[in-house]
Amino acid sequence: MTNTLKGFASRAIHHGYDPLDNEGALTPPLHLTSTFAFESAEAGAEMFAGERQGHVYSRISNPTLDLLERRVAKLEGAEAGLALSSGMGAITATLWTILSPGDELIVDETLYGCTFAFMRHGLAKWGVKITHVDLTDPANLSAAVSEKTRAVYFETPANPNMRLVDIRAVSAIAHDAGALVVVDNTYATPYLTRPIELGADLVVHSATKYLGGHGDLVAGLVVGGQEQISEIRLIGMKDMTGAVMAPFNAMLILRGLKTLALRMDRHCASAMETALWLEAHPAIGTVYYPGLKSFAQYELATQQMANPGGMIAFELKGGMQAGKDMMNRLEMIGRAVSLGDAETLIQHPASMTHSTYTPQERQAHGISDGLVRLSVGLEDPADIFADLEQALPRDMKQTAA
Ligand SMILES: Cc1ncc(COP(=O)(O)O)c(C=O)c1O
Repeated sequence: MTNTLKGFASRAIHHGYDPLDNEGALTPPLHLTSTFAFESAEAGAEMFAGERQGHVYSRISNPTLDLLERRVAKLEGAEAGLALSSGMGAITATLWTILSPGDELIVDETLYGCTFAFMRHGLAKWGVKITHVDLTDPANLSAAVSEKTRAVYFETPANPNMRLVDIRAVSAIAHDAGALVVVDNTYATPYLTRPIELGADLVVHSATKYLGGHGDLVAGLVVGGQEQISEIRLIGMKDMTGAVMAPFNAMLILRGLKTLALRMDRHCASAMETALWLEAHPAIGTVYYPGLKSFAQYELATQQMANPGGMIAFELKGGMQAGKDMMNRLEMIGRAVSLGDAETLIQHPASMTHSTYTPQERQAHGISDGLVRLSVGLEDPADIFADLEQALPRDMKQTAA
């Protein structure tokens, strides 16, 4: 019964678990164990040979992780999932599994700073050719793909400048060229966008963000086809990175998922209000938020996202120094990286999350020095505006509409 539920929120609460299979325990048990006892030497050997189902060792699988993996896969519309120790663990284990030296990986212009560094410095060192293409126009991908292109990778919305990529159009072009499509769905979550349903092959997450939702853990996930996920489990995770998720974190994420729909509704509503408020403020230059009519890809956002999300990027008219001064004056809003938490958080990508790019790279990849990133939290919107208002440049201050 729990596996046939249709609604997103119901699945996020129930999928894959029946309390009656666990002595009536409403909350799934936490399996804090590194290893699993075999009923006989022969049974153990059969498990190692892949001839018998069962858990062997928690770097390969664990029942608490197994439930989380099945639940997130269901929410994303994927066959299978794999839980890892961080978003970077999920990204590196996935790409090291599907790529070989000599392959080409096409990636969008804008990526989270450590993903960019891994590709430019890690994968490139390993003999993978990294080609940046502006995927906001899918025609650019048609022009760029070659027989060496093994995969196409992007974030939508992208961290930090909110660029969107048309998942359906890009997936069709990539598949025609025989390439896989990997989407980082951290910003949107499956509640707002389900890339697999739009044609992508694999979806990665920093579960540290909205999936966990409370800023108390670091974790990652990848979902996709059964065969590919098994390969990533046995190659990228078990042998290459060892980046397995701790069972306790899996339990916290299962708890976070129960309120994902509720939280995302609130994040989106408050972010929309905040984006409009910022856009009307005289000290603010450009605001990048997919829900604004002024957003360059507003139409695509309405087609691809159920709601425009909880992240906003903006520039102050006074430039980078005005942004830093504003951040230093904030009282409730936290100066912190990460995102998707109950607390509203603000950070400066050029000197923080995207300082892994050189200044020239940031310029070439559309990350301006004056950009400020805001993760709109779950507080009362009036308190968010009040804090921003008192922190914005005083000489330009006036009450915004
Ligand atoms: C879009 C995106 N992907 C991946 C990551 C990496 O995730 P983690 O910090 O969990 O390793 C981050 C972290 O900020 C992110 O914002």
